[in-house]
Amino acid sequence: MSLERTLTVRVERISRQTPEILAFELAHPWGRPLPAYEAGAHIDVHMPGGFSRQYSLARAPAASNAGTYVIGVKREAGSRGGSASMHERVREGDLLPISAPRNTFPLREEATHHLLLAGGIGMTPLLAMAQALAARGAAFTLCVFARSEEHLAFADALRDPALAPHLRLHLDQGGLGDASQRIDLRALLAERAPGTHLYVCGPGGFMQAVRDASTHWPEDALHAEYFAAPTDANTTTGLPFTLKLAQRGITVPVAADQTAVDALHEVGIDIPVSCQQGLCGTCVVEGDGEGAEHRDFCLTGSERRHKVALCCSRAKGLELVLQL
Ligand code: FES
Repeated sequence: MSLERTLTVRVERISRQTPEILAFELAHPWGRPLPAYEAGAHIDVHMPGGFSRQYSLARAPAASNAGTYVIGVKREAGSRGGSASMHERVREGDLLPISAPRNTFPLREEATHHLLLAGGIGMTPLLAMAQALAARGAAFTLCVFARSEEHLAFADALRDPALAPHLRLHLDQGGLGDASQRIDLRALLAERAPGTHLYVCGPGGFMQAVRDASTHWPEDALHAEYFAAPTDANTTTGLPFTLKLAQRGITVPVAADQTAVDALHEVGIDIPVSCQQGLCGTCVVEGDGEGAEHRDFCLTGSERRHKVALCCSRAKGLELVLQL
């Protein structure tokens, strides 16, 4: 398996957003614009200590400052890995390797209304989406859930008058959000106006609550960005099967305790990977999605008909055909 090509950025500015969240502005070391991206995109950040994590870009490209990126990093309780490394070891002026942006959480052009549900640090991709939608005059609602005003990240960006008419704040402990703004998820999602697409990002419990309240929504209208695979997710192992590589005209066996990526690597075919949990979309290839047991969290219902995330998904039966 292989990692994607990296580029090096300089940490231009670090700003505290909440007691647990820092924002990092990343710039090209020589001041050039960083590669373009669409709202909803994320990057891999390779940080001191050998850790690598995915972070969403928290600012719409049009609002971007001379082609820089902004990410928000929440220090997870008890972390000795990625988030602790970013909080403790990264300083302004440091150089960091990152991947180019990838977008597995794009805005859907077919939507007539966009409902953006952000829980805590899950605000980052949805803030970029809200800014992009406001810039193009699209119909949208941004619902932000946070513990309190003190725990509200990117509050300055949320105060932008362009977002104000579209913003609903739910603060568990009161504050900015008056009681009339409290959001009842079940009531909010009870009825779906035709053409509305729902986008959600946040901690596991919040994602589950949204999933539970939207079971009657069509699958293609639901879009979720996960930080980690849900704890009840299937493991990457299962029954053995065979990959049939249509372009090469060969078959590759996948053992019960192997992923498709591992099996392909053994025969000299490297598939780029990053999260290895079905979250980021790096390992997705074209293939017979109908014949796959999909275990990812990044493909939509319609994409699953012709795409497969090879780090986690397996064949439904004995064989899975890929366009490789
Ligand atoms: S490597 Fe991230 S989805 Fe497979």
